[in-house]
Amino acid sequence: MKVRRPIIAGNWKMHKTVHEAQTLVKSLLLELPDTIISDKDVVLCPPFTALHKVADMVSNTSIRMGAQDMHWEKEGAFTGEISATMLRDVYCRYVILGHSERRQHFGETSQTVNLKAKAALASNLRPIVCVGETLEEREKKDFRAIVRAQVRESLHGIAAELAEEVVVAYEPVWAIGTGRNASPAQAQEVHALIRTVLADLFGAKRAAKVRIQYGGSVKPANAEELLSQTDIDGALVGGASLDARSFTAIVKAAK
Ligand code: PGA
Repeated sequence: MKVRRPIIAGNWKMHKTVHEAQTLVKSLLLELPDTIISDKDVVLCPPFTALHKVADMVSNTSIRMGAQDMHWEKEGAFTGEISATMLRDVYCRYVILGHSERRQHFGETSQTVNLKAKAALASNLRPIVCVGETLEEREKKDFRAIVRAQVRESLHGIAAELAEEVVVAYEPVWAIGTGRNASPAQAQEVHALIRTVLADLFGAKRAAKVRIQYGGSVKPANAEELLSQTDIDGALVGGASLDARSFTAIVKAAK
């Protein structure tokens, strides 16, 4: 029996118009009534344009909303950016930060993730902080040191009392969208490592309460085994979250 409440989040990335989002959420609401998800957190992270409509649709349910990124400033001349206040305004409770696609294509660093994570917490948004090594890093360098540094730098200066509000997502870059998931043992090893970094930052007692999600080609077929690992407390699901049946199966696999 795990002490941490499982958290399954669907990262829709740059998919779904408002209309398509409504169709998906209609199916999800049929497949995932509150009775099924009472013992876990289920979070939908649609693109910004669909947040408001999806929030309306799930407002009387236990399903929660998350965004895929945000800026760290409250407001200002930052063309194209979205603030934590704006996300709260459309009922977000979570925000994904530092996804590898943002680190790779949009210059996100652990330093900017850190600014965003602090700003999110200050606005009562729970950050889902993503870390993970590339294939090259896994093969050539000490990838464990890279993951450790990502966690340390991304969470630097966050007050220990807020640790429990943070979710960490371990997403090995080589497993994202490739159909090649980390084996449960490979994932568990890094999750345990991440928890030791969290213990250094926040103390062992608090670290034991932080949820660490695995992400990277999570599918109905591999979800149960991944989620049964001691330090795997949930999943951040990309491709399989775009389909109601497969996302539902993954949610049900979390015990
Ligand atoms: P995937 O993506 O499930 O499609 O591999 C996971 C993610 O990028 O969050």
